[in-house]
Amino acid sequence: MAAVLATNIVKQFDDVLAVNGITLAVPDGEFMVLLGPSGCGKTTFLRIICGLERQTAGDLIIGGSVVNDIPPRARGVAMMFQSYGLYPHYTVRNNIAFPLRTQRASRAEIDTKVKWAAQLLGLSHLLDRRPRQLSGGERQRVALARALVREPTALLLDEPLSNLDAKLRASARQEIKQFQQRVGVTTIYVTHDQVEAMGMGDRIAVIERGKVRQVGTPAEIYNEPADRFVATFVGSPPMNLLARNDAYLGFRPENFLPREMVDDGNGGVTEFSFRIDRCEYLGSERIAYGVIEGFESPQLTTAKLPPAHVAEESIRPGQWHRFAVRNSALRYFDHDGKRVIRS
Ligand SMILES: Nc1ncnc2c1ncn2[C@@H]1O[C@H](COP(=O)(O)OP(=O)(O)O)[C@@H](O)[C@H]1O
Ligand SMILES: [Mg+2]
Repeated sequence: MAAVLATNIVKQFDDVLAVNGITLAVPDGEFMVLLGPSGCGKTTFLRIICGLERQTAGDLIIGGSVVNDIPPRARGVAMMFQSYGLYPHYTVRNNIAFPLRTQRASRAEIDTKVKWAAQLLGLSHLLDRRPRQLSGGERQRVALARALVREPTALLLDEPLSNLDAKLRASARQEIKQFQQRVGVTTIYVTHDQVEAMGMGDRIAVIERGKVRQVGTPAEIYNEPADRFVATFVGSPPMNLLARNDAYLGFRPENFLPREMVDDGNGGVTEFSFRIDRCEYLGSERIAYGVIEGFESPQLTTAKLPPAHVAEESIRPGQWHRFAVRNSALRYFDHDGKRVIRS
């Protein structure tokens, strides 16, 4: 296993600046998630780490050695692609064995390692099937097993769950995470899905237009977003933003509640007049959509409410209501979108 360190990595494709100076340190054994919208440079960055793409500038250091000029196979890094790339006419056994065959491993070694990987991922009973005889989740596990047989020093996963339906995705998240904890392999996991990122990452690097906006634990990213992009990209519905003459004021929908539900605590509260236009009942929560009196907002303002504790008359659509936010839950952003800390 090894730490992965990228320093000021740039990748220019003709007229596209795909990666615009990424510096990122992933310690040995960490599960790091790269989270960002489609087209922000995630795949390009992973391809640079495993050596399929050469960076325009910057250094890549794996396990303490600069690997800029080391070919992919010698880097000891395994990448699992979005499409899995399984060979349809090979059995599961031969798909998993493939990287070992290209390395000319001995038959005995191939046997041992395929057994090990298959057992680790619960595939032992499927070794003689072909990919089309497997479910989506099983195919994903075969792709993972194939990435692992070479015992990589780091594992790179590019949106590995995007082909699974929502239900399977939740269990696959769990499996990947548990498996990573067991093996302890340094993992860089790419996704555009904030739920995956929050649920799986030891830390998350939020990327926008080829740049890292913030690196932090899920709680840091959620509670202390470094800028407006992070504040609105993570969280559903996104953080509310109100334009004021000097800055943007932000607060999360779950902190925006009928006045009587907010206790003043130490720091006091800020009250707003909220006209609710529409409510959605989602079972475990109720989302109220509306506008706040006296403020412009770049987006609809939302409140996320616990249904059991909210009186109907506090959220009746078509009416103005007194709502409030604890002052400790307010976040401020300057005109450039950077977080401003106010004491
Ligand atoms: N081989 C390439 N040639 C030219 N442009 C590319 C190439 N690969 C990716 N790009 C561009 O670089 C940007 C980042 O792409 P990508 O890394 O695939 O983003 P993501 O994985 O975050 O969706 C996009 O604008 C994409 O069109
Ligand atoms: Mg991609």
